[in-house]
Order: sequence, then C-alpha cells, then structure tokens
Amino acid sequence: MKICVVGKGGREHALIRSLKESPSSPEVSCFPGSEAIHEIEGAGKVDAHDLNTLIAWMTAHAIDLCIAGEESYLVTGEGLANRCAEVGIPCWGPPFAAAQMEASKEFAKEFMQRHEIPTGAAAGCATADEARAAIDGKYPTVLKFDGLAAGKGVAVCLDEASAEDFLKEVMEERRFGAGRLLVEECLVGPEISIFAAVSGPDYFILTPARDYKRIGEGDEGPNTGGMGAVASRQLADPELMKRIEDEIVAPTVAGLEKDGLNYKGFLYFGLMLTADGPKIIEYNCRFGDPECQAVMPLLSGDLATFCLEGAKGNLQPELISFDEGWSVCCILASAGYPESSRSGDVLSGLDEVSDARLYHAGTKKVGDSWATNGGRVLAVVAGGATREEAVEKAHAEASKVTFDGAQRRTDIGRLHF
Ligand code: AMP
Ligand code: GLY
Repeated sequence: MKICVVGKGGREHALIRSLKESPSSPEVSCFPGSEAIHEIEGAGKVDAHDLNTLIAWMTAHAIDLCIAGEESYLVTGEGLANRCAEVGIPCWGPPFAAAQMEASKEFAKEFMQRHEIPTGAAAGCATADEARAAIDGKYPTVLKFDGLAAGKGVAVCLDEASAEDFLKEVMEERRFGAGRLLVEECLVGPEISIFAAVSGPDYFILTPARDYKRIGEGDEGPNTGGMGAVASRQLADPELMKRIEDEIVAPTVAGLEKDGLNYKGFLYFGLMLTADGPKIIEYNCRFGDPECQAVMPLLSGDLATFCLEGAKGNLQPELISFDEGWSVCCILASAGYPESSRSGDVLSGLDEVSDARLYHAGTKKVGDSWATNGGRVLAVVAGGATREEAVEKAHAEASKVTFDGAQRRTDIGRLHF
C-alpha cells in the first residue's frame, strides 16, 4: 500500500510512525514533510508545490491513500478530498463542504444549532457595531474570527477594553483578512479533546486527550499551538464518555449524514465540560496537535488499513485498539515562542532519550546535528500504566534534550484539567 500524508509537523511525524508500524507495512511519502519526517521515518519526498502538482504526483505514483494530517489543503481550491475523488484516490480527510466544520465557525455553529448539539449561544456579525450590539455589555464574552486563523482567531474578553482591542485588530485592521465574526457565550469548565474516526454514518471514538495551550505553568500566559498533552481512556469515566457519545458525537455524525456532507477522516471535538454537561466549543477536521503525538503511542493494530478502509466508506474499528494506560507528551519550544521563534539552536541529548518517543515539529539538520527551526521544536512522549508513571517518565526523558532558550512546561500531565 502506498500512502501520501499531507502535513509537516509533529502530528504528521507521529501519524507516519504509526502508519509505518502497521502490519500492512505501507510505503509512506509526505507532502510537504520535514527533514526529520523524510530522514528519520524514511517517508519519501513529494515533488510538488501546490494542490495541482500534489494530485498529479499522487496519480503518477499510483498512491492508494491520501491522509490529510493538517487541514489547510482540505479547503484549498476545490479541496484535497474532492480532487482526490476526481482521480480515484481514497482520501482520509473530508471534502471541501464538510471541512467548513473547521474552516467556518459560523457554519459549525449553525450546524450545531440545526442538529441540536449542545453548545454556547452565539450570533454572527458582519461589522464591529453588530458585534457590540450582540455583546450587549455582557462580559466575559468570546469573540471568534470566522475563518482559519492558525489558532489566533479567538479572544476570551473579560471586559469591554479587551473586546474593543480584538474588534479593532480583526474588523478594522483585518489581521486575518476579510471575514465575519462570531460573538459567543462564554462557557466555563474543564476542556477535553475527543477524537472520532468518521466514515459516512459510522464512527469510532478514539482515546480522549487534554492539551495544554498556554505557554506558562499553571495554564498562564498567551496561547500557543500546544505545549503538551495527556491521553488516556481514564481521562473521562465511562458515564461521561457515554454522555459525550450520545449528546455530541452521535448527533454530529447523524447531522453530517443528514446534510449530505459525506465526512471521512478524523473529527476532533473540542469540548468544555460545563455544569450543564458537555458542550462543544469547536470542531476540527483532523487530529489534534499535540494530542496526536500523545495518542499514537497508545495505538496498536493496522492504522494504515484502518484509514484506507475508512476512506473507502468501510470503517473497521476492529483493525485498531488502544492501550488502557497513560501517555504524556511534553513539547520543547524555542526561545521567544509564542511571540516569535528562534532557529539554529543546536539540540543535544537526543541520543540519550531511551524510554520515550521523539517526534520532530520544527527542526532542521545542521551538519550532523538537529537544530531548532520554528516555535514548537520537539515532542517527547512517554507512556505508563498509571498517570504518575507516564508523567515522571515523560519529564525525565524530556529533560535530557537541551538547546539554548528551550522552553518546556513542567506541569504537563500533572495539572489535571
Ligand atoms: P478555539 O480556537 O475555538 O479552539 O478556541 C480556543 C480556546 O478559546 C479554547 O480552547 C477555549 O479555551 C477558549 N474558548 C473558545 N470558545 C469558548 C467559549 N465559548 N467559552 C469559553 N472559552 C472558549
Ligand atoms: N490541540 C489543538 C488543536 O490541534 O487545534
């Protein structure tokens, strides 16, 4: 089986490692990939520079399955999955229309309301004045730019001053380009990331995870792409998982079918566990990053065939299973992150890591060494039968890797919610 994975970060590195461990021994290529993905995992390079050339390359190389690691190509041009369908390549990733579940917050909110899936109340606004009217002096409030904004399009505003700052940035200065804004009720409670593999009317819920978005210890400071994650079946008890499945996952999958959206791929539910029960904050049409890095080591079975069959509309949950234990992912970020990032700091200690998996997010080769090449640099992931064991191991192994200006939260996995 020949698989082409689209993406270049730590999530794709983790997916590719697990695909390569599949008993079906697929040949994996990655677009655009990274030096680490090509060199360490041996994933082939793809001679392409955009969606058109990618489709041409996959066709010429008789690719059997395309997997969307990241979301961007799903909504580029006619969409990755749509273009794959035209040339007869199964795609594990949803078509353009279904990918609006992530690409447009207003689309997602209307979907949730139409299918009565629990979520915060919200109003879509075209102008800053409409947004002010929707806020109606009620704080805290949540403002969301209605488009892809690399995780920077959401502001939880405690007061009018912070709301005005965000409105200016987004609606006047157009930091993320043209687009509408969603004013949303502020929900309170712990957050959990739920992942399902969806293939038309069928779904399979994977091991849940919790990510750590803030840069600082104790969940303080600005948001990042994610400073770590913890994954385990035991994060949510069976009663809570049943509620999440009945109230959120099943109605979402039924809604996708009813709306004729033909969803195939991983679907990520960002949930808040409020006093009134689980409510959805957002959908993402892909695996989480860095949750994927924490979940993948718990997986065994044939992920490659699982994705291929799912992409063909034949979901076979029995092909994969998950360890009941715990997995903790610590991210090492470069100096200055998240405001900026520094490249060229050489990593040392990689060879000393003995009891953890390493997934590269932003590295490059400098001579024989790996050096930083982006904000988030490396994920160090360790497992254990108990939470404590996984936490201790992950931090002990992560501390072996050093580079100038390295940032790592020491409470990843320890801080429960
Ligand atoms: P999103 O980009 O939609 O994942 O939002 C980023 C973060 O903003 C979430 O992980 C939450 O911490 C926070 N957030 C988003 N929506 C809400 C909401 N309605 N109430 C409270 N916090 C929210
Ligand atoms: N971990 C958050 C995300 O992948 O969007």
